[in-house]
Amino acid sequence: MFDALRPQVSSIIDSNKTPDAKMLDICELLKANVPHYDWVGFYFKNGDKRELKLGSYAGAPTDHTIIPFGKGICGQVAESNENFVVPDVQAQDNYIACSITVKAEIVVPLFLNGENIGQIDIDSNTPDPFTEADETFLEFVNFEVAKIL
Ligand code: SME
Repeated sequence: MFDALRPQVSSIIDSNKTPDAKMLDICELLKANVPHYDWVGFYFKNGDKRELKLGSYAGAPTDHTIIPFGKGICGQVAESNENFVVPDVQAQDNYIACSITVKAEIVVPLFLNGENIGQIDIDSNTPDPFTEADETFLEFVNFEVAKIL
């Protein structure tokens, strides 16, 4: 599944659209084609502030358009610079709930010139769905997105 999606991600990157439109296309591609991806979005560092701001996303609208560094899974990844796989969101103390249907989450940081400038965030309604294949694929997605930022 991920091997089939990689060239599609790359052709979106190469398309003739704005960066935000390309990222929206990628969110929609992933949400539509990966059965355990129910919400897909990008957060980016908000200027000089120690907070994340929601960018393009596919799925239900969320109230959490601004997330301070350190808060929730996303805010922790902004500081740790490492992938964060959460098999069961209910077992997490520092978690910001977006929807009661969400069971699991994965957040993978996005690096530009070695700096953690944002992340891709996936929510899943399936318990414990993520494997190393998701991490490798999402690292690839972020590597591609960094080319247009
Ligand atoms: N659950 C995230 C907040 C963002 S929503 O999933 C869209 C977190 O704990 O950081």
